[in-house]
Amino acid sequence: MNHLVVYSHFDSNSYSNHLKKKLIEEGNTLQEDVQIIDLYRDGFNPILAGDTVVTHIIKKYQNQLSWADHYSFIFPLWWGQMPAILKGFFDRVFTPGFAFTDWTDYAEGLLCQKTASLYISTGYSNSYYESNGFHDALRCIFKKGVFGQCGIDAKVMFFGNVGQNTETIK
Ligand SMILES: Cc1cc2nc3c(=O)[nH]c(=O)nc-3n(C[C@H](O)[C@H](O)[C@H](O)COP(=O)(O)O)c2cc1C
Repeated sequence: MNHLVVYSHFDSNSYSNHLKKKLIEEGNTLQEDVQIIDLYRDGFNPILAGDTVVTHIIKKYQNQLSWADHYSFIFPLWWGQMPAILKGFFDRVFTPGFAFTDWTDYAEGLLCQKTASLYISTGYSNSYYESNGFHDALRCIFKKGVFGQCGIDAKVMFFGNVGQNTETIK
């Protein structure tokens, strides 16, 4: 299997980096072909500014997304959302014509053969975010609003209480 890991953290001591290393180890054990996109290391510019030219880095990322069968996205929750650098990755790389047909009611996903796993670390506990509905809201945003639109079946995993006594919900 071709496995693409998209990593969005600046800190090599982060829990997200620990998750990334574990995924790479696991991929090697399973004899997967693993590629990494490290958005901070690449100095990725997340700002969509109406550019009409597809830059070298956008084309490279799209080629990697086409190559992969499965994507793993690893990131911390910041202000209830993905980090801005990752948001910009979707804005600039998951373009109409590449990831889905267009911005209409009838848009079709163009990455239908792909699957994704999301590894989201949070400061708050899993029990807090399960009980107040926030995990469900995030599942809905990611499964329907982001990946579903591109035809990608996504599984969302939360790692709560990070930095204290980390818990996992799948
Ligand atoms: C700018 C910022 C915003 C944050 N917002 C939230 C939040 O909305 N909810 C939450 O549970 N944790 C929040 N946190 C805590 C991070 O989610 C937590 O520190 C992170 O998941 C730990 O994993 P890491 O070591 O990979 O960074 C925030 C942290 C930062 C730096």
